[in-house]
Amino acid sequence: MPRELYIVGNWKMYKTAREAADYIAQLEPRVRNCKGKIYLAVPFTSIASAARAAKGSNISIGAQNVHDAREGAFTGEISSLMLKEAGAEFVILGHSERRTLFGETDFTIREKVVRALQDDLQPILCVGETLEERSGAGAQEVLKRQIHACLAGIPTEDVERVVLAYEPIWAIGTGKTASPKMAQESHAYCRLVVAELLGKKIAEHMSILYGGSVKPENGGSLTAQKDIDGVLVGGASLDPEAFAEIAHNCESKQ
Ligand code: 13P
Repeated sequence: MPRELYIVGNWKMYKTAREAADYIAQLEPRVRNCKGKIYLAVPFTSIASAARAAKGSNISIGAQNVHDAREGAFTGEISSLMLKEAGAEFVILGHSERRTLFGETDFTIREKVVRALQDDLQPILCVGETLEERSGAGAQEVLKRQIHACLAGIPTEDVERVVLAYEPIWAIGTGKTASPKMAQESHAYCRLVVAELLGKKIAEHMSILYGGSVKPENGGSLTAQKDIDGVLVGGASLDPEAFAEIAHNCESKQ
């Protein structure tokens, strides 16, 4: 798949099914003419109503997690087939909140990437370093370890469908965005790691999104960078007006 502009909202644990439908009714006319892909990762219980509200529009609905088994005795978990039937087209995997608050490891995240690909849910794989890792020499090592652990050995025709998201953990929900230059350096490094691991062609075609305190004011300067193909937006995606503004401000990428 060629690189594309992605504007992805991650609602985290916000918005009920009814709120989701209201939101989409407000967002749809504002992004109707956007050329980028408009994705919303919503809570499990809001997927069906969001997908219904988004039907026939250019908005795609996805989930924020999935289990790696197709079905089984896994109390409290959800499968890719359940998500798909509810209307999800993609899934965010390996978000730092899943890694730090819920103990997800590179190993489990890789299993989830494989499952999502097998069941035709497009994975958005998140990687990123903490502040301590950044101030030491370790940021690049962390990115390399995460990318290798989660993507090594996945067949070309599958891995082509993966979108990567670089989210420096120190920039999430803190108001501290990486500067466009700093983010570009990390994105270029991620692309280099993907090239070494999976080949130049896959790396050139992979869309790599930036996440961490993206707002209407900074989205455009981030996506203006050569290796930043879109944004993954948390807090600012909860407001349809702000999210639509981000989508429009990022259009200069096209
Ligand atoms: P914020 O945009 O609220 O910093 O969240 C980023 C994020 O975690 C998106 O997945």
